Amino acid sequence: MSLFVTKPLSRIIAESEGGEHTLKRSLSATQLVALGIGAIIGAGLFSLTGIAAAENAGPAVVISFLLAAVGCAFAGMCYSEFSTMIPIAGSAYTYSYATMGEFLAWIIGWDLVLEYAVGAATVSVSWSAYVVSFLHDIGIHLPPQLTASPFEPLKMSDGTLVHGIINLPAVFIVVVVSLLLMIGIQESARVNSLIVVIKVSVVVVFIIVGYNYINPSNYTPFIPQNTGVFGEYGWSGIVRAAGVIFFAYIGFDAVSTAAQEARNPQRTMPIGIIGSLVICTILYVLFAWVMTGMVNYKDLRVAAPVALAIDQTPYPWLAGLIKLAIIAGFTSVILVMLLGQSRVFFSMSRDGLLPKIFSDIHPKWSTPYRSNLLFMVFVSLFSAFAPISVVGHMTSIGTLFAFSLVCAGILVMRRTHPDLARPFRTPLVPLVPILGILVNIFLMYGLGWENWLRLFVWLVIGLVIYFTYSRYHSNLARHPQTDKTV
Ligand code: ALA
Repeated sequence: MSLFVTKPLSRIIAESEGGEHTLKRSLSATQLVALGIGAIIGAGLFSLTGIAAAENAGPAVVISFLLAAVGCAFAGMCYSEFSTMIPIAGSAYTYSYATMGEFLAWIIGWDLVLEYAVGAATVSVSWSAYVVSFLHDIGIHLPPQLTASPFEPLKMSDGTLVHGIINLPAVFIVVVVSLLLMIGIQESARVNSLIVVIKVSVVVVFIIVGYNYINPSNYTPFIPQNTGVFGEYGWSGIVRAAGVIFFAYIGFDAVSTAAQEARNPQRTMPIGIIGSLVICTILYVLFAWVMTGMVNYKDLRVAAPVALAIDQTPYPWLAGLIKLAIIAGFTSVILVMLLGQSRVFFSMSRDGLLPKIFSDIHPKWSTPYRSNLLFMVFVSLFSAFAPISVVGHMTSIGTLFAFSLVCAGILVMRRTHPDLARPFRTPLVPLVPILGILVNIFLMYGLGWENWLRLFVWLVIGLVIYFTYSRYHSNLARHPQTDKTV
């Protein structure tokens, strides 16, 4: 059978609705927006804003946030169109299966492991670092050997390097979040909504309090003059900074992996995807504006830029609150990433491309609990032992690759299925998807050849699995006939 055989839409929808082994439609529009914000606000905002301002854009990092948001909005609209047409857990994987064929669908499903599972592992290590620091502040000192990977030495405050044995706090949070995901989607969504309220409140408090301590002279020059090197200030710096802080927007697409659990997805999916993106863009721009107004951009090249900004106010307690918000923020990012991962593999397993264990649904909890369990082990191993500094960019390159294919999928779908009902239509097709592809490839280019190589190696591993297992177990290959063809 051809590698490029597509799965008919009628069959995708029919299979998703069939039988007792299906996910439960219970999520409201508000919960979907909260899932999006839960996945979006995290390490990117709190750590990268300062670096991008100090090294690339100065106060104009505000423009970088807007630029990255426009790039994400192109992809966000394409995701919205697909998620209303095909409200299935597989997200980009299923969209590719319907438009570009099984082979590309497999590639994209495999690629999404980088965004979701590897992304969750990366954030769990940052979570661990913040929890260790928070506990340290309140007089609880965890042994450093138990809080770091053996492959990544930990720098102590006196400058000595300590080699870790295992990063236990990182494993702890992955286990806790995985157990929650197993118990139920409603339980997970409720915890996520609570966390989102906490972190958004703290970001808003920072913006309101910080606004009063802005020193207008910090905005001059607003766009520092380029040093002669591409990416060091000036307009090229703004573009480079947009690439750096792109990581801060990753996550809105994870909303689409919950499409099979959304009530009335035709209405709620675009609200969830675009709503969370719009809210986060507004918060990010205001946050960056206040931060670069409080502290001169040249001084933001530090590990904790938010703490430095708070030092300008007479409210040191705010620093503790921010730390708590960061920990909460990381927790919900891990939660939604792990949720997305299990749902993508759920769809791939239902299609026969992965073993059935990934789509076994718990009779009472209605969750793919075995998949959650397997990913708990896989991600925990990563969190415990992997040198995490290299994998952050892999999350970005994997995500951008998926975004590009989703934008391309819209172009294909408009040609192959022009008359299909589209509850949400991407405006200005083909312009918006084409711009989406160009922006994403441009941002991928900026991530450098090492990350291309890592992506390539990861995809080669995926191809070996596809050609030795998936191709022979694919339901579409084994049962190609369908009742209707849409
Ligand atoms: N957007 C998420 C973060 O910044 C991945 O942590």
